[in-house]
Amino acid sequence: MAKTELPLVLLTHPLPAEWLASLDSLCRMEVGEAGRGGISNRLMRLLPEARGLICLLTDRIDEGVLAKASHLKVVSNYAAGLDNIDLPACTRRGIPVGHTPGILTAATADLTMALLLAAGRGLFPAASDARQGIWKTWEPAGWLGTDLEGACLGIVGLGHIGSAVARRAAGFGLRIIYINSEPVPELENTLNMHMVEFSQLLVESDFISLHVPLTPQTRHLFDRQAFRLMKKTAILVNTARGAIIVMDDLAEALQNGWIAGAALDVTDPEPLPPDHILYSLPNCLIVPHIGSATYGTRHRMAGLACRNLVAGLVGERLPVCANPEVYA
Ligand code: GLV
Ligand code: GLV
Repeated sequence: MAKTELPLVLLTHPLPAEWLASLDSLCRMEVGEAGRGGISNRLMRLLPEARGLICLLTDRIDEGVLAKASHLKVVSNYAAGLDNIDLPACTRRGIPVGHTPGILTAATADLTMALLLAAGRGLFPAASDARQGIWKTWEPAGWLGTDLEGACLGIVGLGHIGSAVARRAAGFGLRIIYINSEPVPELENTLNMHMVEFSQLLVESDFISLHVPLTPQTRHLFDRQAFRLMKKTAILVNTARGAIIVMDDLAEALQNGWIAGAALDVTDPEPLPPDHILYSLPNCLIVPHIGSATYGTRHRMAGLACRNLVAGLVGERLPVCANPEVYA
C-alpha cells in the first residue's frame, strides 16, 4: 500500500521512535509537539481524517475533540488512569478506548516507597543541609525522622498499585490498614492487614498513601476536614492523581502543623506553578509525575498502547479495553 493510503494516526506528543517501530508499515503518523500538554492546533485540524489517536494523560479527550474526529476508530491512552477521557462519550460513538494498567504497577509502587522513605526521613532537607555546609558534626538530635518499623500505613485504594505498595510496606515492618470498595482477603491473610472506615484510617495512620483513580467520589477526598483528623506526625504520599487532594488545604495543613509532611508525585494542576506555596515548604516534597518513569515500564506501556491502537484500526477487540461495553 502506498504510504498515503495508510490510515492516519495522531500521536499527541513524541515518543522514542524505537518504541513505535511496530506501527511503521501500518499507519501514517502525525505527531504533536514535545514539552507541552494537550492536543496541538495542528493535530486538531487533522482530527477529521484520523482513524487512530494515541494520547497522554495530559490530553483531554471530550465531546469537543470527539465531535471533530468523525472517522476515529480507536483511542489508545498512553496511561493507566482514564480521568482525562470522557469514556461514556467514546462509548456512545462506538469508539473503544485502550489503556495500560498493570504494566506500571511495580514502578509506581517503587516510587511510592521512595517518597514514603524520603519524606519519613527528611531526606531532601538533610541532603540540602549537607551540601550547604550546615552539617557541622554528628547531631544526636538533628535530622530526626520517623521509624517505619511498627508504624501504621493507611492505604487508600487496594487495586494493583495499592496492593503492590502493601507488599513492599510489609517488608519494612509497617502495620497496614486500608480502605477499598471491598475487602481483599488474600492480602489480609498473607500480610496481616485489615480494612477500616475512612475516618479510622485518617486517625490511626502514621503514613497515608493514595492509590484510587480520580472520580467524582475521590475528587477532593483529602480536604481541610480530613487533615484535621490526621495525626500531627502523619505523612501523606500521593502517586495517584493530584485532585484527590485539595492543594490549598494541604498547604494550610502543612503550614499549621496539622500534619507533618507530604510527598507528591501528582499535583493539581500539573505542573504546579513554580511560585506555588507548596514548593516553599520544607516538609513538602514534589516530583514531576514520574511514577511510571523507568525505561522498561515506559517502553512496555508504549508496546501495549501500540497493540491497542492496531487492534482498533483493524476492528479487532483491544487487548486492554476500558469500555468493553462498546462491543455489546
Ligand atoms: C500515570 O499516571 C498513568 O495513569 O499511567
Ligand atoms: C495499575 O496498573 C492499576 O491499574 O492499578
